[in-house]
Amino acid sequence: MTHNFCAGPSILDKSVLNKIAQAYSDYNNTGLALVETSHRTDTFMEIIEGAQQLLKELLQLPEHYEVLFLTGGASSQFYMVPMNVLNENQTAAYINTGTWAQKAIKEAQLFGNTKTIASSEEAKFTYIPKELPTTDGFRYLHLTTNNTIYGTQYRSGYPQVNCPLVADMSSDILSEPRDMTQFDLIYAGAQKNLGPVGSTIVIINKALLGQVDRKIPTMLNYQTHINRGSVFNTPPVMSIYGCYENLKWIKEQGLDNIRDRNKAKAELFYNTVDKLSCFYTTVAKEDRSVMNATFHIKEEAASQAFEELCKEAAIVGIKGHRSVGGFRASMYNALKLESVEALAEVMNQIEAKFG
Ligand SMILES: Cc1ncc(COP(=O)(O)O)c(C=O)c1O
Repeated sequence: MTHNFCAGPSILDKSVLNKIAQAYSDYNNTGLALVETSHRTDTFMEIIEGAQQLLKELLQLPEHYEVLFLTGGASSQFYMVPMNVLNENQTAAYINTGTWAQKAIKEAQLFGNTKTIASSEEAKFTYIPKELPTTDGFRYLHLTTNNTIYGTQYRSGYPQVNCPLVADMSSDILSEPRDMTQFDLIYAGAQKNLGPVGSTIVIINKALLGQVDRKIPTMLNYQTHINRGSVFNTPPVMSIYGCYENLKWIKEQGLDNIRDRNKAKAELFYNTVDKLSCFYTTVAKEDRSVMNATFHIKEEAASQAFEELCKEAAIVGIKGHRSVGGFRASMYNALKLESVEALAEVMNQIEAKFG
């Protein structure tokens, strides 16, 4: 068994992968593969509408939210959000918790004013800033709920704000039950807890739209995709199908159970790091991510030995992001506890040798 700790694209449950594999050859005994089926057919409309409905159900979204399946990754949302929501003379507030937040700020500056109202840059993004000035008067406040690269996550609620709240939830959406109604816009690349890479999910409170002066290219206008049910142009059919199957899997598991399992995996991992002298993490304890645990090894020789042992144990995707180095264990929904046990076992072996 391969233990897949990749940060994204990342692990999906085998049952979901089997469904996708089957759809590549013959979808539902139609005699056609899904990749050779028109997105204008009833077959595909059932899939995309089913996926939108199920996402609304799992996230308990009220009627005034729209769910869109777009393309371009979460990175495209860095500019689509301000293009659709922020006027040139308005200011959007951002919390700078690292690379992805910084990219979002850079794009927003093309459309209006931005103000970084909190940042953990001075501490190399090892914590989530909690003290915020007033958010009165901002067009919106943007935050990244889980910082995939640094291993920090909002663990004890989100800031109370006096303006619309926008979130990049790419790496922790659907990892636990959460009150989504505090957000006015949420976006996420599919390739972690949602499904296979290729689609980007945007959830919008419709009241946020229709208030900018600029002309917006048709494809980049949220309203286009709302009006056309995410099939204005040819959508990423296979990714959306994979998301639908994965959402069904999440429903079968139950989001409460998923949360409990994710918590158990993270506890096992962090307890192991805290107990062993060879390993450490620089992330503030209260902000440690349940999804992406970043860690380091004190000695170079131990580090090399760790990589070799991981290879032998079929542990993959454990290297840290190239911008920060070290190691990272991504423990998304489909990763089983036994994979974290396998990792802990390797860590214990390193401790026995180098500790
Ligand atoms: C939190 C976060 N935001 C944005 C992105 C960029 O996503 P994409 O590659 O879908 O553009 C990532 C990618 O890992 C991410 O983790």
